[in-house]
Parts: sequence; C-alpha cells; structure tokens
Amino acid sequence: MSKNILVVGGAGYIGSHTTLALAQAGYRPVIYDNFSTGHRDACFGDVLVEGDLADTAKLVQTLQEHSIDSVIHFAALIEAGASVHAPVPYFQNNVAGTLSLLEAMNTAGVKRLVFSSTAAVYGNVDGAALLSEDLPRAPINPYGDSKAMVETILERCAEAYGLQTIALRYFNASGADAQGRTGERHDPETHLIPLVIQAARGQRDLIKVNGTDYATPDGTCVRDYIHVSDLASGHVAAVTWLQKHDCAGKQAINLGTGTGASVREVIDAVRRISGKSFVVEEAPRREGDPATLVADAQRAHDILGWSAQHSDLDTIIRDAWRYAEAHL
Ligand SMILES: NC(=O)c1ccc[n+]([C@@H]2O[C@H](COP(=O)([O-])OP(=O)(O)OC[C@H]3O[C@@H](n4cnc5c(N)ncnc54)[C@H](O)[C@@H]3O)[C@@H](O)[C@H]2O)c1
Repeated sequence: MSKNILVVGGAGYIGSHTTLALAQAGYRPVIYDNFSTGHRDACFGDVLVEGDLADTAKLVQTLQEHSIDSVIHFAALIEAGASVHAPVPYFQNNVAGTLSLLEAMNTAGVKRLVFSSTAAVYGNVDGAALLSEDLPRAPINPYGDSKAMVETILERCAEAYGLQTIALRYFNASGADAQGRTGERHDPETHLIPLVIQAARGQRDLIKVNGTDYATPDGTCVRDYIHVSDLASGHVAAVTWLQKHDCAGKQAINLGTGTGASVREVIDAVRRISGKSFVVEEAPRREGDPATLVADAQRAHDILGWSAQHSDLDTIIRDAWRYAEAHL
C-alpha cells in the first residue's frame, strides 16, 4: 500500500520537485503550505492543505486525517543575507515553527521526519577540503543558526521521543524539472544561476561577480551546484531509508556532488547555452563568503545509496534556462 507523506512547504522550489519524485516513486504526497513564498500552480500532491507551521492543531488534524506515515519538512525562510538584518522572523518561522510541527507529530504519533538543512551550518570554513558531516556546526548568520538549532532539537527528540530523523544538508540547489513542470521562482531571487539567467534574458542590467581574488583556480568563489531533481530523489531515498530502519535515531547527510563550479564557470555556461551576451561587472568580495564550499558526498552514497545523476553544470543550466524561457 502506498504510504502518505506530509510535505510541509511542498509548494516551494525544492518541495514541488520532491512531490513529483514522491508520486513517481509510488508515495502519496499531502502538501501543507501557507503560500508565503510557494506557488499554487507548483502543488503536485494528492491533497493540498493550506495552513501555517505555527498552527499545531491544524497540523495534528492533517497528520491524523490523512494517516501520515512520514513528514518531509521544507518550510522555512531561506535568505541568509536578510536574516542578518531581521533575525526574529527566521527564528520564529524556522525554529518555533519546527517545534510546532514536532509537537503535532508527537500528538499524532508520527515518528519519521526528513528535515531540510543546509551547508550553511558549516559556516565560514577555510580551505578547499570537502565538507564532511563530522565537522562542527558553526553557522555565521541567523538563517544558518536556525537550521543548526533545529538539527540539535531533532537530535534531542530522537533521544527523548524515539523520533527517526534525517537532516539533509543541501549544497546549492539549482536547475529545474526536465519536463518543465516546476522550477526556481524565488522572489526576491538571490541565487547565482537564476540571476545570471535573468541577465541573459535582459531582465537585469548586469551580473556582479563578488570577489575575483579568492584562492581558487580562476579567483572566483566555488560552490557545489546540485540539480533540484537530484535533491528530490535524495528525499525519496531518505524517507524510504527511515521506513526500512524502524528505530529511533538521527543522521545528518550532505546532498551535494563532491565537485564545484566557479562563478565564472557558471557565467560562461549560461552564455554558451543561451547564446546571449550580457554585462558582467567585477565587484569586491562580500563579507562571509568562503572561497570554496563543496560537499563530501560519500555518506549519502554509503547510507542512502544515493548519488547525484543530473548535476553536471550544463544539464543544470539547460534545464533552468528552458524553464525560465517558458515560464518567467
Ligand atoms: N534553495 C536552496 O538553495 C537551499 C539550500 C539549502 C537549504 N535549503 C532549504 O530547503 C528548504 C526549501 O527551500 P526552497 O528553496 O524550496 O524555498 P521556498 O521558499 O521555495 O519554499 C519554502 C516553502 O515553505 C512554505 N512555508 C514557509 N513558511 C511556512 C510556514 N510557516 N507554514 C507553512 N508553509 C511555509 C512556503 O510557502 C514555500 O512554499 C528550506 O528549508 C531551505 O532552508 C534551500
């Protein structure tokens, strides 16, 4: 019998792709979203419940009414930069909101939770080594703090209540569904690839390269870009793993590729794939931007049997470009 999965934040970028992947894998996704940043036309669940994380009673009702087996929790405010100037909503939504969800899960007796964490929990790591899950959590902004706090809370809940939980630490989510059913539509947009695509489409005057003197091969920052459909399959793998290993416990697992691309490589790839030219401006470094952030992707492979399949830069940019041309 197909299992019902509550996808909290399922109307968002990564949640909508994951909902498609869950349905494809034979699960029955139930979306719970307040549409603060999500989109109604990106809901692909069997059921849609409009509600807020803070509404514990509605969460309990939803978990019970739909006989939910496992929860995947994407709902959060996601802008690291904005969180520095307005930390309270970040802690309110991301931390207090998650506590409300955990309370509801406890009341309804739902034990399995996959949580959207982030490479931002590693903070300002120096050097080019791959980032292993064994590194200490050392976030440098309230957004990263909020995710690190939730990871700690989940660990304590695993010990106290028998919660079975996996925190998936995503690197740079990018790309779009290859069939164009959903894609990246953040507002405001702060991620590099959609910003470069906006420049190529004439929707912004130029693209800024923040820092050209880093200790990287071409002097610009290197990041691990992971195709959103690979993230989606990582969630299916995580939820399936939790169901197979029916015992309390917690894991933190990176979802990345293990290789990085520089800002210049991204810009060159968008130029090549779009055939468009646009203005690129060199600008000073931004505070808090490490030179290189690339995942050690071994644990995801060893535990979940998962590895990225669609995350070469050209595939990511081709899918993102096609989605932008058709929908944005
Ligand atoms: N996009 C990335 O590169 C990236 C990287 C690392 C981690 N993450 C994490 O992945 C998750 C999803 O990110 P995304 O890019 O899809 O963001 P998104 O903004 O597109 O999606 C978030 C969804 O959650 C919903 N939501 C937010 N607060 C809610 C609340 N209080 N109640 C109910 N619904 C609520 C929004 O309406 C939206 O549909 C977030 O937790 C984010 O921190 C994202």
